[in-house]
Amino acid sequence: MEYLSLAQSLARSAGELILSKMGEGILTEEKSSSFDVVTEVDKESELLIRKGIADHYPDHRFLGEEETYLNGSSLEEIVADAQSKPYVWIVDPIDGTSNFVQGIPGFTVSIALACEGEMLVGVVYDPCADEMFWAVKDQGAFLNGKRIHVSDKEGLNTSVIATGFPSSMEARLAVYGGLGKLIHECRTIRSLGSAARHLAYVGASRLDGFWENGLKAWDVAAGAIIVKEAGGQVSDTAGNPYSLEVTDIAASNARIHAPLLDCFK
Ligand code: IPD
Ligand code: CA
Ligand code: CA
Ligand code: CA
Repeated sequence: MEYLSLAQSLARSAGELILSKMGEGILTEEKSSSFDVVTEVDKESELLIRKGIADHYPDHRFLGEEETYLNGSSLEEIVADAQSKPYVWIVDPIDGTSNFVQGIPGFTVSIALACEGEMLVGVVYDPCADEMFWAVKDQGAFLNGKRIHVSDKEGLNTSVIATGFPSSMEARLAVYGGLGKLIHECRTIRSLGSAARHLAYVGASRLDGFWENGLKAWDVAAGAIIVKEAGGQVSDTAGNPYSLEVTDIAASNARIHAPLLDCFK
């Protein structure tokens, strides 16, 4: 199966699984702290996607949030081993577990494929809204089959910017620093509970920008290619180019990128 169709079909199946479990008494475990939770549905969703990829591409590597947590595979190992297995699928089985646990719509399934660190395909699926965002390198970004583009806002004063609250306290305080400055500059700020959805919304011009500190490759990889293919810009909060190792992310319609970055200095 072609990469994009496989990613879309697995994201849809995982989304159906997650929706079917919403509202049930979900068992929640703490990972690194009470700010960082996982449910059995995160693990089931990841397993479904992992099996689906392995059936079609047994030679490809897999980097999933929950598998990393359980089995200790690391992004560093994957980067070091990129020569022998250049293709890696980067998967967040539920991005927005806190939304899911609370019964708030807007969590997503995020699936990206990279080859030697370069993103080829990204899919972000929001099962509650039945919205499938995707992008393929050099072929543009789409929402449910329609081409999407970033907004044409020219300044922060008319821009709506999103952020999130990561699980590490150090990263939360860094977000807070950015918030303290941006609150004076932009039209308003949103926090919708899924980094992947924030990035997809920048691609679809629903948001003009997004930043968050302390993110992981699975939160960002699929959304980053969607933003880029929709004409936007993704970097770290200091303005260096995006790569899988970047954790402090800034994304925008490109036109407001410089003033957005100024707020993180
Ligand atoms: C979280 C979400 C949230 C962001 C956190 C992430 P998870 O991912 O993307 O919006 O603020 O930093 O960890 O744990 O729900 O997959
Ligand atoms: Ca998590
Ligand atoms: Ca996530
Ligand atoms: Ca997750």
